[in-house]
Amino acid sequence: MKNFYTAYYAAIEHSQAYHLFCERVFGIDLGQHGFADVQQLDLLMQLAGLDAAKCALDLGCGDGRIAEYISDRTGASITGLDYVAAAIRSAQMRTQAKAARLEFFVGDINQLELPRDAFDVILSIDTLYFSEDYAATIRALKDALKPGGQIALLFSHGREPWVPKEQFPRETLPPDKTPLAQALGANGLTFRTWDLTQRDYELAIRRKQVLAELEAQFDAEGTRFIYDNRLGDANGIAQAIEDGLHARYLYQAVMARQ
Ligand SMILES: C[S@@+](CC[C@H](N)C(=O)[O-])C[C@H]1O[C@@H](n2cnc3c(N)ncnc32)[C@H](O)[C@@H]1O
Repeated sequence: MKNFYTAYYAAIEHSQAYHLFCERVFGIDLGQHGFADVQQLDLLMQLAGLDAAKCALDLGCGDGRIAEYISDRTGASITGLDYVAAAIRSAQMRTQAKAARLEFFVGDINQLELPRDAFDVILSIDTLYFSEDYAATIRALKDALKPGGQIALLFSHGREPWVPKEQFPRETLPPDKTPLAQALGANGLTFRTWDLTQRDYELAIRRKQVLAELEAQFDAEGTRFIYDNRLGDANGIAQAIEDGLHARYLYQAVMARQ
């Protein structure tokens, strides 16, 4: 997976096709490789209550454009972490003039070494899937939160195309039953959720349409692997939602004040 993301971030830096794809699907090009459009990001920012006095961690920040967008909009200081070193370098170089409120470092979701009691907000935008142990990752994030701080996550859960329909555990789809809900509960965290499944479906359908429009441009650029990758996720998610086997939620877990 790391090789894929290294190639992905190198390619999107110069890809006009992917720039158009993100603008047409997500409403803004922030180099998204998740499923968050501008509406979802704005909801996340609003719920997280970010402002110039707050500091946040963006877990799995990629080339940092989402962190930069959120910091520009809210004034919050944001630290981005990702395991693709070149994407982190690119984020650092692009945001040099904003270094007072944006910093980026290379780190691994599965070996988190975060300062204790350091962040008001931790954002995970389509990144928890890469944790090998959700409960352990949530524990590490919780330890890095200040008292009264919060973790806000955009998280999808559903049947992958290679899993037979009858084998997918449907009972894990409600927001309080997903693997993420279990991990939050195992860490003593209560949470609120917002159901974004309908929006996720609309965006998957839009990805298919926009990719069809841009296919020749991806081919001409030599970035077909991104086209194939995004078409695969759009087809898989659209089908799973039509089968009632996929859900997307925003989770907000707030730490008690001590
Ligand atoms: C699905 S993308 C989401 C990126 C971005 N948050 C977004 O919404 O577009 C997953 C991100 O997590 C990063 N990632 C995957 N596994 C990781 C790991 N073990 N440690 C740190 N970052 C990881 C990838 O490099 C990529 O930037």
